[in-house]
Amino acid sequence: MASHCNPRYFLNPRLSFQLLALVGTLTWHILVTAECAALNQLRGEVGGNVTFHCSVANQELKFLYLQKGEIFVNGYYESKDTSQLAWKNTIMDHDKTTMHMYNLNVSHRGEYQCLFQYSGSSATQKQVIHLSVTANYSKPALTVRYSDENHHSCLVTCASHCGYPGNKVTWNVPESQMWNVLNSSEMSDPKTMMVNSSSTAYFNCSNGATSISCSVGNVSSDKFSVCASIEPPPVPPSPVIEAICAVVGITIISIVSVLLLWWRCKKGQRGAAAVHFRRVNGCEEEATVHNESNEGKEAS
Ligand SMILES: *[C@@H]1O[C@H](CO)[C@@H](O)[C@H](O)[C@H]1NC(C)=O
Ligand SMILES: *[C@@H]1O[C@H](CO)[C@@H](O)[C@H](O)[C@H]1NC(C)=O
Ligand SMILES: *[C@@H]1O[C@H](CO)[C@@H](O)[C@H](O)[C@H]1NC(C)=O
Ligand SMILES: *[C@@H]1O[C@H](CO)[C@@H](O)[C@H](O)[C@H]1NC(C)=O
Ligand SMILES: *[C@@H]1O[C@H](CO)[C@@H](O)[C@H](O)[C@H]1NC(C)=O
Repeated sequence: MASHCNPRYFLNPRLSFQLLALVGTLTWHILVTAECAALNQLRGEVGGNVTFHCSVANQELKFLYLQKGEIFVNGYYESKDTSQLAWKNTIMDHDKTTMHMYNLNVSHRGEYQCLFQYSGSSATQKQVIHLSVTANYSKPALTVRYSDENHHSCLVTCASHCGYPGNKVTWNVPESQMWNVLNSSEMSDPKTMMVNSSSTAYFNCSNGATSISCSVGNVSSDKFSVCASIEPPPVPPSPVIEAICAVVGITIISIVSVLLLWWRCKKGQRGAAAVHFRRVNGCEEEATVHNESNEGKEAS
Protein backbone atom coordinates (compact mmCIF):
# COMPACT_ATOMS: atom_id res chain seq x y z
CA MET A 1 0.00 0.00 0.00
CA ALA A 2 2.77 2.43 0.92
CA SER A 3 4.31 2.13 -2.54
CA HIS A 4 0.95 2.89 -4.14
CA CYS A 5 0.82 6.10 -2.21
CA ASN A 6 4.36 7.13 -3.06
CA PRO A 7 4.03 10.07 -5.44
CA ARG A 8 6.86 9.19 -7.78
CA TYR A 9 7.18 7.91 -11.27
CA PHE A 10 8.23 4.33 -11.75
CA LEU A 11 8.34 1.76 -14.43
CA ASN A 12 5.27 -0.44 -14.39
CA PRO A 13 6.57 -3.99 -14.45
CA ARG A 14 3.12 -5.46 -14.87
CA LEU A 15 1.77 -3.63 -17.91
CA SER A 16 -0.16 -6.25 -19.75
CA PHE A 17 2.29 -8.08 -22.02
CA GLN A 18 -0.59 -9.08 -24.24
CA LEU A 19 -1.61 -5.53 -24.87
CA LEU A 20 2.02 -4.61 -25.52
CA ALA A 21 2.21 -7.41 -28.05
CA LEU A 22 -1.04 -6.24 -29.61
CA VAL A 23 -0.11 -2.61 -29.98
CA GLY A 24 3.48 -3.52 -30.81
CA THR A 25 5.04 -0.14 -30.31
CA LEU A 26 4.61 0.23 -26.60
CA THR A 27 7.63 -1.83 -25.71
CA TRP A 28 9.76 0.89 -24.24
CA HIS A 29 9.72 2.48 -20.89
CA ILE A 30 6.31 3.40 -19.72
CA LEU A 31 5.98 5.62 -16.77
CA VAL A 32 3.18 5.06 -14.38
CA THR A 33 1.98 7.66 -11.99
CA ALA A 34 1.06 6.08 -8.72
CA GLU A 35 -2.37 7.18 -7.64
CA CYS A 36 -2.73 7.90 -3.99
CA ALA A 37 -6.23 6.50 -4.03
CA ALA A 38 -7.88 4.27 -1.51
CA LEU A 39 -7.67 0.62 -2.48
CA ASN A 40 -10.88 -0.25 -4.24
CA GLN A 41 -12.45 -3.32 -2.78
CA LEU A 42 -15.02 -5.19 -4.84
CA ARG A 43 -17.05 -8.13 -3.58
CA GLY A 44 -18.71 -10.67 -5.79
CA GLU A 45 -20.40 -14.03 -5.47
CA VAL A 46 -19.76 -17.14 -7.52
CA GLY A 47 -22.12 -16.96 -10.49
CA GLY A 48 -22.71 -13.23 -9.90
CA ASN A 49 -21.43 -10.02 -11.48
CA VAL A 50 -19.21 -7.10 -10.49
CA THR A 51 -18.46 -3.72 -12.01
CA PHE A 52 -14.95 -2.32 -12.18
CA HIS A 53 -14.88 1.43 -12.33
CA CYS A 54 -11.68 3.27 -13.16
CA SER A 55 -11.82 6.84 -11.88
CA VAL A 56 -10.48 9.10 -14.58
CA ALA A 57 -10.72 12.82 -15.14
CA ASN A 58 -12.97 14.09 -17.90
CA GLN A 59 -10.13 14.15 -20.43
CA GLU A 60 -9.47 12.31 -23.63
CA LEU A 61 -7.68 9.01 -23.03
CA LYS A 62 -5.03 7.35 -25.13
CA PHE A 63 -5.76 4.00 -23.53
CA LEU A 64 -7.51 2.49 -20.57
CA TYR A 65 -7.54 -1.13 -19.66
CA LEU A 66 -7.91 -3.58 -16.82
CA GLN A 67 -5.36 -6.29 -16.20
CA LYS A 68 -5.05 -9.06 -13.65
CA GLY A 69 -1.40 -9.71 -12.92
CA GLU A 70 0.03 -9.44 -16.40
CA ILE A 71 -3.09 -10.64 -18.15
CA PHE A 72 -5.24 -8.27 -20.17
CA VAL A 73 -8.89 -8.33 -19.07
CA ASN A 74 -10.61 -5.65 -21.15
CA GLY A 75 -9.99 -2.11 -22.37
CA TYR A 76 -8.84 -0.18 -25.41
CA TYR A 77 -5.80 1.48 -26.92
CA GLU A 78 -6.71 4.50 -29.03
CA SER A 79 -8.40 3.08 -32.13
CA LYS A 80 -6.90 -0.42 -31.97
CA ASP A 81 -9.20 -3.39 -31.67
CA THR A 82 -8.56 -5.30 -28.47
CA SER A 83 -11.78 -7.30 -28.52
CA GLN A 84 -10.14 -10.64 -29.28
CA LEU A 85 -8.05 -10.29 -26.11
CA ALA A 86 -10.92 -9.31 -23.84
CA TRP A 87 -12.17 -11.91 -21.41
CA LYS A 88 -15.41 -13.35 -22.74
CA ASN A 89 -17.18 -12.73 -19.44
CA THR A 90 -16.45 -8.98 -19.54
CA ILE A 91 -18.07 -6.02 -21.29
CA MET A 92 -16.78 -2.44 -21.52
CA ASP A 93 -19.40 0.24 -20.93
CA HIS A 94 -20.08 3.05 -23.40
CA ASP A 95 -18.39 5.44 -21.00
CA LYS A 96 -15.14 3.52 -21.69
CA THR A 97 -14.09 3.59 -18.03
CA THR A 98 -16.45 1.00 -16.56
CA MET A 99 -16.19 -2.75 -17.11
CA HIS A 100 -18.68 -5.43 -16.13
CA MET A 101 -17.58 -8.94 -15.28
CA TYR A 102 -20.19 -11.70 -15.35
CA ASN A 103 -20.51 -15.26 -14.15
CA LEU A 104 -17.80 -14.98 -11.53
CA ASN A 105 -15.95 -17.99 -10.27
CA VAL A 106 -13.41 -18.37 -7.49
CA SER A 107 -10.45 -18.00 -9.86
CA HIS A 108 -11.52 -14.42 -10.66
CA ARG A 109 -10.66 -13.23 -7.16
CA GLY A 110 -7.47 -11.21 -6.68
CA GLU A 111 -5.84 -7.94 -7.54
CA TYR A 112 -6.70 -6.03 -10.71
CA GLN A 113 -5.14 -2.86 -12.07
CA CYS A 114 -6.76 -0.21 -14.13
CA LEU A 115 -4.09 1.40 -16.31
CA PHE A 116 -4.72 4.50 -18.37
CA GLN A 117 -2.98 7.36 -20.09
CA TYR A 118 -4.41 10.73 -21.09
CA SER A 119 -3.86 11.93 -24.64
CA GLY A 120 -0.79 14.10 -24.89
CA SER A 121 0.70 12.58 -21.78
CA SER A 122 3.34 9.90 -21.49
CA ALA A 123 2.53 9.04 -17.87
CA THR A 124 0.51 5.87 -17.31
CA GLN A 125 -1.68 6.00 -14.27
CA LYS A 126 -2.66 3.02 -12.22
CA GLN A 127 -5.50 2.13 -9.89
CA VAL A 128 -5.56 -1.04 -7.90
CA ILE A 129 -8.89 -2.82 -7.47
CA HIS A 130 -9.17 -5.88 -5.29
CA LEU A 131 -11.89 -8.40 -6.05
CA SER A 132 -12.99 -10.95 -3.48
CA VAL A 133 -15.32 -13.75 -4.49
CA THR A 134 -17.39 -15.77 -2.06
CA ALA A 135 -20.00 -18.51 -2.34
CA ASN A 136 -22.69 -19.26 0.21
CA TYR A 137 -22.51 -22.75 1.63
CA SER A 138 -25.59 -24.91 1.26
CA LYS A 139 -27.75 -25.17 4.37
CA PRO A 140 -25.94 -27.75 6.52
CA ALA A 141 -27.70 -31.10 6.77
CA LEU A 142 -27.50 -33.28 9.87
CA THR A 143 -27.63 -37.05 9.70
CA VAL A 144 -27.63 -39.41 12.66
CA ARG A 145 -26.40 -42.97 13.04
CA TYR A 146 -27.23 -44.85 16.25
CA SER A 147 -24.64 -47.38 17.25
CA ASP A 148 -27.18 -49.64 18.96
CA GLU A 149 -30.91 -50.37 19.00
CA ASN A 150 -31.46 -48.71 22.37
CA HIS A 151 -29.98 -45.35 21.32
CA HIS A 152 -27.30 -45.27 24.03
CA SER A 153 -25.05 -43.20 21.76
CA CYS A 154 -24.91 -41.91 18.22
CA LEU A 155 -22.72 -40.38 15.55
CA VAL A 156 -24.05 -37.18 13.99
CA THR A 157 -22.62 -35.79 10.76
CA CYS A 158 -23.07 -32.18 9.66
CA ALA A 159 -22.36 -31.51 5.98
CA SER A 160 -22.53 -28.41 3.82
CA HIS A 161 -21.55 -28.07 0.17
CA CYS A 162 -20.05 -25.74 -2.38
CA GLY A 163 -18.99 -22.69 -0.41
CA TYR A 164 -16.01 -20.38 -0.58
CA PRO A 165 -13.74 -19.65 1.21
CA GLY A 166 -13.14 -22.73 3.38
CA ASN A 167 -15.07 -22.72 6.65
CA LYS A 168 -15.13 -25.25 9.44
CA VAL A 169 -18.33 -26.74 10.81
CA THR A 170 -19.27 -25.26 14.17
CA TRP A 171 -21.57 -27.23 16.49
CA ASN A 172 -24.25 -25.66 18.66
CA VAL A 173 -24.80 -28.16 21.48
CA PRO A 174 -26.21 -27.54 25.01
CA GLU A 175 -23.58 -27.71 27.75
CA SER A 176 -25.27 -30.58 29.58
CA GLN A 177 -24.73 -32.89 26.62
CA MET A 178 -21.81 -35.36 26.69
CA TRP A 179 -20.30 -35.24 23.23
CA ASN A 180 -17.10 -34.74 21.29
CA VAL A 181 -16.08 -33.95 17.73
CA LEU A 182 -14.51 -36.97 16.02
CA ASN A 183 -13.35 -35.32 12.82
CA SER A 184 -13.81 -32.35 10.52
CA SER A 185 -12.93 -31.99 6.87
CA GLU A 186 -12.87 -29.30 4.22
CA MET A 187 -12.66 -30.83 0.75
CA SER A 188 -11.82 -28.40 -2.03
CA ASP A 189 -12.79 -29.15 -5.61
CA PRO A 190 -9.56 -28.83 -7.64
CA LYS A 191 -11.40 -27.28 -10.59
CA THR A 192 -13.93 -24.90 -9.08
CA MET A 193 -12.09 -24.49 -5.74
CA MET A 194 -15.49 -24.71 -4.04
CA VAL A 195 -15.34 -26.33 -0.63
CA ASN A 196 -17.45 -29.06 1.01
CA SER A 197 -17.26 -28.86 4.77
CA SER A 198 -18.32 -31.64 7.12
CA SER A 199 -17.82 -32.86 10.66
CA THR A 200 -18.81 -35.93 12.65
CA ALA A 201 -19.48 -35.83 16.39
CA TYR A 202 -20.12 -38.54 18.99
CA PHE A 203 -23.03 -38.12 21.41
CA ASN A 204 -23.59 -40.07 24.63
CA CYS A 205 -27.36 -40.40 25.00
CA SER A 206 -27.53 -41.14 28.73
CA ASN A 207 -29.03 -37.67 29.43
CA GLY A 208 -31.87 -38.15 26.98
CA ALA A 209 -33.01 -36.09 24.01
CA THR A 210 -31.09 -32.92 23.10
CA SER A 211 -31.72 -30.30 20.44
CA ILE A 212 -28.60 -29.44 18.44
CA SER A 213 -27.68 -27.58 15.26
CA CYS A 214 -24.55 -26.81 13.26
CA SER A 215 -23.29 -23.95 11.11
CA VAL A 216 -20.88 -23.45 8.25
CA GLY A 217 -19.96 -19.86 7.46
CA ASN A 218 -23.12 -17.87 8.09
CA VAL A 219 -25.50 -20.67 7.28
CA SER A 220 -27.07 -22.77 10.04
CA SER A 221 -28.87 -26.08 9.94
CA ASP A 222 -32.36 -26.60 11.31
CA LYS A 223 -32.63 -27.68 14.94
CA PHE A 224 -32.25 -31.40 15.22
CA SER A 225 -33.15 -33.75 18.08
CA VAL A 226 -30.67 -36.48 18.95
CA CYS A 227 -30.97 -39.23 21.53
CA ALA A 228 -34.76 -39.14 21.47
CA SER A 229 -36.25 -42.03 23.45
CA ILE A 230 -37.10 -44.91 21.24
CA GLU A 231 -40.77 -44.89 20.26
CA PRO A 232 -42.27 -48.36 20.05
CA PRO A 233 -42.53 -48.87 16.33
CA PRO A 234 -46.01 -49.39 14.87
CA VAL A 235 -46.63 -53.13 15.38
CA PRO A 236 -46.44 -54.81 12.02
CA PRO A 237 -48.84 -57.75 11.55
CA SER A 238 -46.68 -60.45 13.10
CA PRO A 239 -46.53 -63.93 11.55
CA VAL A 240 -47.77 -65.44 14.84
CA ILE A 241 -50.88 -63.24 14.84
CA GLU A 242 -51.41 -63.97 11.17
CA ALA A 243 -51.15 -67.70 11.91
CA ILE A 244 -53.61 -67.40 14.82
CA CYS A 245 -56.02 -65.46 12.61
CA ALA A 246 -55.71 -68.13 9.95
CA VAL A 247 -56.29 -70.93 12.46
CA VAL A 248 -59.32 -69.14 13.99
CA GLY A 249 -60.69 -68.40 10.53
CA ILE A 250 -60.21 -71.95 9.37
CA THR A 251 -61.77 -73.24 12.61
CA ILE A 252 -64.83 -70.98 12.22
CA ILE A 253 -65.22 -71.96 8.58
CA SER A 254 -64.80 -75.62 9.54
CA ILE A 255 -67.40 -75.37 12.33
CA VAL A 256 -69.85 -73.57 10.06
CA SER A 257 -69.21 -76.13 7.32
CA VAL A 258 -69.66 -78.98 9.77
CA LEU A 259 -72.86 -77.41 11.13
CA LEU A 260 -74.14 -76.85 7.60
CA LEU A 261 -73.26 -80.37 6.63
CA TRP A 262 -74.82 -81.71 9.79
CA TRP A 263 -77.96 -79.64 9.14
CA ARG A 264 -78.09 -80.86 5.55
CA CYS A 265 -77.44 -84.43 6.68
CA LYS A 266 -80.19 -84.13 9.27
CA LYS A 267 -82.58 -82.79 6.58
CA GLY A 268 -81.34 -85.47 4.21
CA GLN A 269 -81.84 -88.19 6.86
CA ARG A 270 -85.35 -86.97 7.51
CA GLY A 271 -86.01 -87.10 3.76
CA ALA A 272 -84.36 -90.51 3.57
CA ALA A 273 -86.40 -91.69 6.55
CA ALA A 274 -89.57 -90.54 4.82
CA VAL A 275 -88.62 -92.35 1.65
CA HIS A 276 -87.71 -95.43 3.63
CA PHE A 277 -91.01 -95.13 5.43
CA ARG A 278 -92.79 -94.81 2.17
CA ARG A 279 -90.76 -97.68 0.78
CA VAL A 280 -91.55 -99.65 3.81
CA ASN A 281 -95.17 -98.79 3.29
CA GLY A 282 -94.76 -99.62 -0.38
CA CYS A 283 -93.24 -102.92 0.59
CA GLU A 284 -96.04 -103.41 3.00
CA GLU A 285 -98.38 -102.34 0.27
CA GLU A 286 -96.54 -104.57 -2.14
CA ALA A 287 -96.57 -107.20 0.46
CA THR A 288 -100.16 -106.50 0.97
CA VAL A 289 -100.71 -106.50 -2.77
CA HIS A 290 -98.57 -109.57 -2.96
CA ASN A 291 -100.47 -111.06 -0.20
CA GLU A 292 -103.66 -110.03 -1.88
CA SER A 293 -102.48 -111.55 -5.17
CA ASN A 294 -101.32 -114.58 -3.28
CA GLU A 295 -104.58 -114.51 -1.63
CA GLY A 296 -106.10 -113.94 -5.07
CA LYS A 297 -104.02 -116.81 -6.50
CA GLU A 298 -104.88 -118.78 -3.49
CA ALA A 299 -108.44 -117.62 -3.91
CA SER A 300 -108.47 -118.47 -7.64
C1 LIG B 1 -25.57 -15.35 0.14
O1 LIG B 1 -25.83 -14.95 1.46
C2 LIG B 1 -26.02 -13.55 1.61
C3 LIG B 1 -26.17 -13.28 3.09
O2 LIG B 1 -27.00 -14.19 3.71
C4 LIG B 1 -27.24 -13.12 0.81
O3 LIG B 1 -27.41 -11.73 0.92
C5 LIG B 1 -27.03 -13.49 -0.64
O4 LIG B 1 -28.17 -13.18 -1.39
C6 LIG B 1 -26.72 -14.96 -0.77
N1 LIG B 1 -26.38 -15.26 -2.13
C7 LIG B 1 -27.00 -16.18 -2.87
C8 LIG B 1 -26.51 -16.37 -4.26
O5 LIG B 1 -27.91 -16.85 -2.42
C1 LIG C 1 -15.33 -39.14 10.42
O1 LIG C 1 -15.61 -40.18 11.32
C2 LIG C 1 -16.74 -40.98 10.95
C3 LIG C 1 -16.96 -41.99 12.05
O2 LIG C 1 -15.79 -42.62 12.46
C4 LIG C 1 -16.47 -41.65 9.62
O3 LIG C 1 -17.61 -42.40 9.23
C5 LIG C 1 -16.20 -40.57 8.58
O4 LIG C 1 -15.87 -41.18 7.36
C6 LIG C 1 -15.07 -39.68 9.03
N1 LIG C 1 -14.95 -38.59 8.09
C7 LIG C 1 -13.79 -38.15 7.66
C8 LIG C 1 -13.84 -37.04 6.71
O5 LIG C 1 -12.73 -38.62 8.05
C1 LIG D 1 -18.94 -31.60 -2.88
O1 LIG D 1 -20.31 -31.94 -2.78
C2 LIG D 1 -20.96 -32.01 -4.03
C3 LIG D 1 -22.45 -32.22 -3.76
O2 LIG D 1 -22.66 -33.28 -2.87
C4 LIG D 1 -20.34 -33.12 -4.85
O3 LIG D 1 -20.97 -33.19 -6.10
C5 LIG D 1 -18.87 -32.83 -5.05
O4 LIG D 1 -18.25 -33.90 -5.71
C6 LIG D 1 -18.19 -32.63 -3.71
N1 LIG D 1 -16.83 -32.16 -3.93
C7 LIG D 1 -15.80 -32.63 -3.23
C8 LIG D 1 -14.48 -32.04 -3.54
O5 LIG D 1 -15.93 -33.50 -2.38
C1 LIG E 1 -22.39 -42.34 28.73
O1 LIG E 1 -22.01 -41.66 29.89
C2 LIG E 1 -22.30 -42.34 31.07
C3 LIG E 1 -22.00 -41.43 32.25
O2 LIG E 1 -20.75 -40.85 32.11
C4 LIG E 1 -21.50 -43.65 31.11
O3 LIG E 1 -21.78 -44.35 32.30
C5 LIG E 1 -21.87 -44.48 29.91
O4 LIG E 1 -21.07 -45.63 29.85
C6 LIG E 1 -21.71 -43.70 28.64
N1 LIG E 1 -22.31 -44.46 27.58
C7 LIG E 1 -21.70 -44.70 26.44
C8 LIG E 1 -22.46 -45.52 25.44
O5 LIG E 1 -20.59 -44.27 26.19
C1 LIG F 1 -20.81 -13.85 7.07
O1 LIG F 1 -19.73 -14.20 7.89
C2 LIG F 1 -18.59 -13.40 7.67
C3 LIG F 1 -17.52 -13.96 8.57
O2 LIG F 1 -17.40 -15.32 8.40
C4 LIG F 1 -18.92 -11.96 7.96
O3 LIG F 1 -17.79 -11.17 7.69
C5 LIG F 1 -20.07 -11.51 7.09
O4 LIG F 1 -20.45 -10.19 7.43
C6 LIG F 1 -21.24 -12.41 7.27
N1 LIG F 1 -22.28 -12.05 6.35
C7 LIG F 1 -23.56 -11.95 6.68
C8 LIG F 1 -24.49 -11.55 5.61
O5 LIG F 1 -23.95 -12.20 7.79
